[in-house]
Amino acid sequence: MKFKVFDSYEELSAYSAELVAGVIREKEDAVLGLATGSTPIGLYEELIKLYDDKNLDFSKVKSINLDEYIGLDGTHNQSYRYFMNLNLFNHINIDKKNTHVPNGVAENLEQSVAEYDELIDSMGGIDVQILGIGPNGHIGFNEPAEQLKLNTHVAELTKETIKANARFFASESDVPTQAVTMGMGPIMKAKKVILIASGENKAWAVKSLVDDVITTSIPATLLKLHPDVTVLLDKKAASQLEV
Ligand code: F6R
Repeated sequence: MKFKVFDSYEELSAYSAELVAGVIREKEDAVLGLATGSTPIGLYEELIKLYDDKNLDFSKVKSINLDEYIGLDGTHNQSYRYFMNLNLFNHINIDKKNTHVPNGVAENLEQSVAEYDELIDSMGGIDVQILGIGPNGHIGFNEPAEQLKLNTHVAELTKETIKANARFFASESDVPTQAVTMGMGPIMKAKKVILIASGENKAWAVKSLVDDVITTSIPATLLKLHPDVTVLLDKKAASQLEV
């Protein structure tokens, strides 16, 4: 794992966008594994700037998102499909047919989650996976547990995650309690992983990435087994590191 600490969120975002741009410049039909939440918004803004400046072409790029709330369809303003359109896809020349977010309102959820894994395989796997991290160390919605799931599945959100995500909803009781999430398998199989974290509330989870422990009770620690992970932090997220 490589770590890099930035003075500001803006610098972190610009650097992470350059890493993603590098992957696309090397492979025009790259498969991007994408995350939602507050953290990657700056990265997406920087990718849009690169596109606007004619420095990046998304016409052949494909994307696959980590997760989606159950019960919210793509038109709901808190769905992750809506988030991706709003914060990235509507502003670049990606073909929306090449963008994939799990279906949170599928009639047959079991079939839909199984098809998501087949889709990832049919795309040839993920070239670069963007990850945020939960204050509890979750990645995607792979929440701390005795066992983690390998494949795409329906996850129960922990109280802590519901609380953390309540800021986007009118009230905590409006936050869905379940989500479809990619499992640890496709994340660990991604050729490259970029984990970004900003803010004091991530410092504990970030510290767990440098300890000599791997535990399913902090899912992000499994990334220590991945050969190509870059962790990009602002100073607050890095505040419990001893560097
Ligand atoms: C979102 C996702 C989550 C977030 C994490 C951090 O697609 O998979 O794991 O990355 O909850 O969220 P923020 O960035 O809002 O702090």
